[in-house]
Amino acid sequence: MSLVHIIDLPMLGDDRGQLVAIEGNKQVPFDIKRVYYIYGTGSSVSRGFHAHKELEQMAVCVSGSCEMILDDGKYKETVYMNSPKQGVMVPSLVWHEMHDFSDDCVLLVFASDHYDEADYIRNYQEFLTYHK
Ligand code: TYD
Repeated sequence: MSLVHIIDLPMLGDDRGQLVAIEGNKQVPFDIKRVYYIYGTGSSVSRGFHAHKELEQMAVCVSGSCEMILDDGKYKETVYMNSPKQGVMVPSLVWHEMHDFSDDCVLLVFASDHYDEADYIRNYQEFLTYHK
């Protein structure tokens, strides 16, 4: 089974331009409690390098492009993100890293809970013990 779960977002655009609407428990399979976005990341900078104990997330690259590595401790997959029409699920207990940000990359993330540092696993060896 692939680690990459893509959600095709409905396009509501018309001849005036594009519009994508995202609602909790509809396009995103959880209640949205937090939204954040990452932009202005240099192309030589990588981010992420953690997993969450409980948090579920969906990321949408609304502008530009980047790569996301998803790793469940057994399998690792890379997804190239360059479409504002597609959400990439980042489930709990999946190590994720983001690389190769374009200058214009804006990565929008919907999260199932408020920010809580205690939910982070930032050490890869510790992450692997969660899968044993
Ligand atoms: P972090 O999650 O480590 O960023 P990334 O995974 O993109 O490398 O977050 C960077 C900093 O921002 C860290 O000090 C925690 C803080 N932060 C919040 O305060 N609230 C949030 O919702 C997020 C995502 C991060």
